[in-house]
Amino acid sequence: MKGSYLLTTLVIALMVFSCNQKTDEGYSMQKKVFGDYDGKEVVLITLKNSEGNTLKLTNYGATIVWIEVPDRDGNMENITFGYETLDEYTNGDPYFGSVVGRYANRIAKGKFILDDIEYNLAINNGMNTLHGGPGGWHSVVWDYEITDNEENIPSVIFRYHSPDMEEGYPGNMVIEVTYQWTDNNEIIIDYNCSTDKKTVLNITNHAYFNLKGAGNGDILDHEVTILASQFTPVDQDLIPFGENIAVEGTPFDFTQSHIVGERIEEDNEQLVLGGGYDHNFVLDNVEEVDAIVYEPKSGRMMEMITDQPGVQLYCGNFLDGTEAGHGGKVYEHRGGLCLETQHFPDSPNQSAFPSSVVEPGSPFKSRTVYRFSVK
Ligand code: BGC
Repeated sequence: MKGSYLLTTLVIALMVFSCNQKTDEGYSMQKKVFGDYDGKEVVLITLKNSEGNTLKLTNYGATIVWIEVPDRDGNMENITFGYETLDEYTNGDPYFGSVVGRYANRIAKGKFILDDIEYNLAINNGMNTLHGGPGGWHSVVWDYEITDNEENIPSVIFRYHSPDMEEGYPGNMVIEVTYQWTDNNEIIIDYNCSTDKKTVLNITNHAYFNLKGAGNGDILDHEVTILASQFTPVDQDLIPFGENIAVEGTPFDFTQSHIVGERIEEDNEQLVLGGGYDHNFVLDNVEEVDAIVYEPKSGRMMEMITDQPGVQLYCGNFLDGTEAGHGGKVYEHRGGLCLETQHFPDSPNQSAFPSSVVEPGSPFKSRTVYRFSVK
């Protein structure tokens, strides 16, 4: 009796975890079936580093589902927005933790001209295109490879082939996004994208963070530093009008740390247009760390490091409390903030902005790191 019970348990365990590696180094990598989408299997991958902290990912949208790190007293909490079921990911469109492409953020009127050819994109944000269009990379199933590479760092490589003219963008693009979860509690994200035709690209990750724990109130009390002396002000459609403006003397000056709530309600035209902070900051790229978020009660800190020219600080202004995620916790208005590393919004139409063009033979390579610690 006991033997058959054990056998059944073993079989179920094998069915649930088709891969379960616990290594001598103390880290582990597991996967289980999350569901099916578009005729493809979707999995939930759990990486534990040797410190016992957890990063969960899914190949639907190459998405970060869960980041569990301690506060200064060692209490563990998931600090990013995510869902418990695949259906919630496929039914909603909030980009929780997903990779966003082929062009993250907005392209005005959903069109641009490249070498005298006008390309018309799928429109999904008023008259404009947002985050690659309705069928962007957040909404497709990626191939994946779970690996601990040569350095024993639990990692996942996601791969996707974006066909020529997908959502209106030219060129077959091969995309590789690698997440490494280090013992230093860093998520290292490497993007590697190549094309067979001249195209435009802006790829990012759209994770929402709340360092008190996802669903534990708003982020107005989070202290933010962004080493950016300028930002790109926007029009009523949140499209930059092409000029970089100095942050000095404005509520956009985060070169010294400020809590989010300190100035977010100020009567400032840009804040009114964004419903709060929803703007691209022009990174100075002078220090190793480009941005810091600190939550004083938990003591949790997140440092962000990137080689990209910009970062979108988005404070969940469009969240209205109708989204609930892990454990049924409600993600309220301004319940999370995003630091989306990027090229500037609408660059394909703005010649003064750093070019977002990718050419055949010159793959785009970029790295962004989110590092978690306590203070
Ligand atoms: C944009 C917001 C948008 C949000 C959607 C952000 O990157 O800047 O304007 O509402 O994504 O999740």
